[in-house]
Amino acid sequence: MTYAVVYSSKTGNTKAIAQAIGEALPKAQCVYIGEPKKEGAEADIIFAGSWTDKGNCDQEMAAFLEGLKGKKVALFGTAGFGGSQEYFQQLAQRFAQHLEGSNQLVGSYFCQGKMPQAVRTRYEKMAQDAPQDPKVKGMLENFDRAASHPDQIDLAQAQDFARQIWNQIQ
Ligand SMILES: Cc1cc2nc3c(=O)[nH]c(=O)nc-3n(C[C@H](O)[C@H](O)[C@H](O)COP(=O)(O)O)c2cc1C
Repeated sequence: MTYAVVYSSKTGNTKAIAQAIGEALPKAQCVYIGEPKKEGAEADIIFAGSWTDKGNCDQEMAAFLEGLKGKKVALFGTAGFGGSQEYFQQLAQRFAQHLEGSNQLVGSYFCQGKMPQAVRTRYEKMAQDAPQDPKVKGMLENFDRAASHPDQIDLAQAQDFARQIWNQIQ
């Protein structure tokens, strides 16, 4: 049984999860860890992860997932918004829509990931224009919650997830 860890990451959050997953699994059975490339499709099980781009995986990951056939696939990702398993489930479903029917989705793991400071600056401008708007206040709070993620707990949970899947399919 071999595995690959394939990830799309713009600012490093998803890459950190991918590396943690790689560290949790036996090195000898790893065929590829890296960005979406066809070498990543040549394993029995593929851990495929992406940052969240407008509610979905990014385009490179979408194209990679769409090219898979007859694979076991475990999805993972990071998202600026979070705090609810429902939201993460929804993202997993959206990512999974890029998989054709011959593949088997074996699980998913998502956590929050920090956003660039420019996003907070934009929210701060919005707050200046509408200081009473509870939506803007919520966006600022969410930004600050995301700022420490992925943290050690997220990485450890990703590793537990990967080991569980790996043990299941042996
Ligand atoms: C252009 C853009 C679009 C984004 N869209 C979403 C989104 O729809 N939902 C969400 O939860 N986070 C969204 N985010 C936040 C990122 O998915 C999040 O910060 C992620 O952890 C970045 O991962 P990376 O460091 O691996 O690139 C967006 C970020 C950018 C820059």
